[in-house]
Amino acid sequence: MASIKSAMKNTVLLGLLASTAAAAPSYGHKPDPFSNASWPLPREISGQDDTANPNSTTQGWGGVHLHDPCLVLGPDGHYYSFSTHGLTVISRASNKGSIDGYWQILGSVLEAGSSVINNTGSTDPWAPDVHKVGDTYFDYYAVSQFGSQISSIGLATSKTLLPGSWTDHGAVLSSSPDADYPLNITNAIDANLFVDPKTHVPYLIYGSFWADLYEFQLNSDLKSVKQETALQLSFDPVLPQAEEGAYLSYAGGWYYLWYSHGICCGYNVSALPTPGTEYSIRVGRSKAATGPFVDRAGVDLKAGGGNIVFGSHDYVYGPGGQGVLSNYRGRDVLYYHYVNTNLNPTYKDELKLLGWNYINYIDGWPVLSSR
Ligand SMILES: *[C@@H]1O[C@H](CO)[C@@H](O)[C@H](O)[C@H]1NC(C)=O
Ligand SMILES: *[C@@H]1O[C@H](CO)[C@@H](O)[C@H](O)[C@H]1NC(C)=O
Ligand SMILES: *[C@@H]1O[C@H](CO)[C@@H](O)[C@H](O)[C@H]1NC(C)=O
Ligand SMILES: *[C@@H]1O[C@H](CO)[C@@H](O)[C@H](O)[C@H]1NC(C)=O
Ligand SMILES: *[C@@H]1O[C@H](CO)[C@@H](O)[C@H](O)[C@H]1NC(C)=O
Repeated sequence: MASIKSAMKNTVLLGLLASTAAAAPSYGHKPDPFSNASWPLPREISGQDDTANPNSTTQGWGGVHLHDPCLVLGPDGHYYSFSTHGLTVISRASNKGSIDGYWQILGSVLEAGSSVINNTGSTDPWAPDVHKVGDTYFDYYAVSQFGSQISSIGLATSKTLLPGSWTDHGAVLSSSPDADYPLNITNAIDANLFVDPKTHVPYLIYGSFWADLYEFQLNSDLKSVKQETALQLSFDPVLPQAEEGAYLSYAGGWYYLWYSHGICCGYNVSALPTPGTEYSIRVGRSKAATGPFVDRAGVDLKAGGGNIVFGSHDYVYGPGGQGVLSNYRGRDVLYYHYVNTNLNPTYKDELKLLGWNYINYIDGWPVLSSR
């Protein structure tokens, strides 16, 4: 921890210098595009709602109801979605080339559960992260339990994305108090594969709570990490310091580290978290996949920096679990889950919805667009 603290001190100083150098921009009569007044509403999607189906094999997840969504283009030209719960529910948008729907539930990735068994009742994987590399789709998933640091990131692969086509390869990395640094101080959940478009080096970003967001280089088989390459990307020193669900994207020469901050789930509508401590989507950027990532004021994400790009407003509550779809109809898309407080007035986890918006870049800083 000592080394983390001294690194933080340096980055805070750098942050102060950078923020005094940048003059506050003026946007005339238009609302500041970076302020919460400019946050759009999620675009409408349609899909199956399995929550009330007593025969559902996917615990009500999939279709319109996703948690920690991941969207990917399939070999058949349809977009596929993946969700936490239901053994990683697979849905497919029936309109080719569209992420608007109609999202139909197809089944699960890990029909028999994950082969990683660290905790009782923990074979239902969380936070799928699916990417195509070569002719193969890689799904990095997390196996954990709420409040436990004994966790693993597992890997399943497929060539088609369809139920029944997946091979489970087990754990890629595991965290516990007995593991090697930094897996003894971090939590091996919420993986994100990022293959650097410039250098082709593959990275695995992961983590939450326990020391927040970390990154490893992967070996070329994408099934194991280079232990000596561990790097902290982000850390919020203010309790409860919960940062998770990271996703790295690249656009216009910048690397963007997106993550979810705050309390993800289990909202009790009569005792909601202190406003601002529920889930929100934040971002920082860097000139390298290894950071340092800073926010618009120049504050390093390792020193608590990060800009909120999407948070609770209007009928949207606690958006997070986000990812980026690059070059969707020529633009980048941010997708996420959220509570729609009109449709889900008791804020139930199992009624969270998939939402998405296009991303605009202003001076290289991303904002969500209403169109
Ligand atoms: C559930 O399955 C039973 C038995 O196959 C069937 O009778 C019933 O219609 C199904 N219910 C729904 C909502 O699909
Ligand atoms: C968790 O499971 C994985 C794979 O089964 C194993 O490699 C790892 O050592 C386990 N971790 C603990 C703390 O038991
Ligand atoms: C984590 O493991 C490293 C060795 O890999 C060790 O030096 C360090 O003390 C451990 N930290 C904690 C908090 O256990
Ligand atoms: C929700 O909060 C209310 C008010 O604090 C409390 O009475 C109730 O027990 C809570 N419900 C759950 C399920 O925790
Ligand atoms: C938007 O930001 C202002 C100023 O920081 C704050 O007072 C307000 O509560 C925020 N609104 C929402 C919906 O977050």
